[in-house]
Amino acid sequence: MTQTLTIPRPDDWHLHLRDGAMLAGIAPESARHFARAIIMPNLVPPVVTGADAAAYHGRIRAVTGAGFTPLMTLYLTEATDPADLVAAHAQGIITAVKLYPAGATTNSASGVRDFDRMRPVFEAMAEAGIPLLCHGEVTDPEIDIFDREAVFIDRVLDPIRRRTPALRVVMEHITTADAVAYVHSQPENLGATITTHHLVINRNHILVGGIKPHYYCLPVAKRETHRQALLSAATSGDARFFLGTDSAPHTDDAKESACGCAGCFTATNTMSILAQVFDDAGALDKLEGFASRNGPGFYRLPVNEGTLTLEKTDTPVIYPAKIETGAGPVTVFDPGFPLYWRVL
Ligand code: DOR
Ligand code: ZN
Repeated sequence: MTQTLTIPRPDDWHLHLRDGAMLAGIAPESARHFARAIIMPNLVPPVVTGADAAAYHGRIRAVTGAGFTPLMTLYLTEATDPADLVAAHAQGIITAVKLYPAGATTNSASGVRDFDRMRPVFEAMAEAGIPLLCHGEVTDPEIDIFDREAVFIDRVLDPIRRRTPALRVVMEHITTADAVAYVHSQPENLGATITTHHLVINRNHILVGGIKPHYYCLPVAKRETHRQALLSAATSGDARFFLGTDSAPHTDDAKESACGCAGCFTATNTMSILAQVFDDAGALDKLEGFASRNGPGFYRLPVNEGTLTLEKTDTPVIYPAKIETGAGPVTVFDPGFPLYWRVL
């Protein structure tokens, strides 16, 4: 008997769509399965004002059509005007605000260096109920790259939470047991996204047997015990953990380089991978919460009315190895195991 699973249409609570030819090439990969996505603002130059976000929204919709809803974010800088941000939220232009520590990742140079300076912005956001989405890594060169998330929680996030307890915060793309524990320790206004790839790979996948640039992303995958903690959180049914793929396309020449870019491109096969991972964990019944219900719950949005059906097949589903875009080819994330779940 064929096994199927029908869930409300999922959303992606953390997505990079880029711009121009790359946007045109890869946005359909997300729009095919997802109804909505939180769109990252780290373009060059970044999306810093309500006007920038409105214009970018238009460019995305021109590619995807109205069947896909981009939920826009602003890129927080030390020059961000709290009034512009609150106005953009009140007008429905933006859903959230993204915090990049300066230098933490791709196009984060305009990010925040002095977190104390952001206090008036955080207070205005708390007052208006605007979520702060954190790229949770410190950039101090003395901190080992594998410790940067845990140190961010202690040195940056926890002090912000203590000073502005009403601020709604999403810890983006968590990669450690420390982050899972921190979510558990906090009240309901703290949530966390988990990517598809961090449920699949640990740091050995990147480094053992030759360096695998398509498994390199930030925050970098940690040791296996951390992956297990993420898997437990994602499959637990706890409503504060939800899907944010962080699907982040770079062309192959930018990835397969002496100084390769960070980012895993998972938009194409995410739902198949997740179904496989949840099935293998004996938690298929928890996929609906993780991909379709917990995110809207945190963001106070309705669950999508449409549905998505997955079917378990006898022969593995084959996805394209690359998506050809006008900017160049983008390699699709290879989970390294067969996928028996296909999206109908
Ligand atoms: O791996 C990543 N890629 N992590 C990020 O935080 C940014 C993203 C990108 O924009 O390429
Ligand atoms: Zn990201």
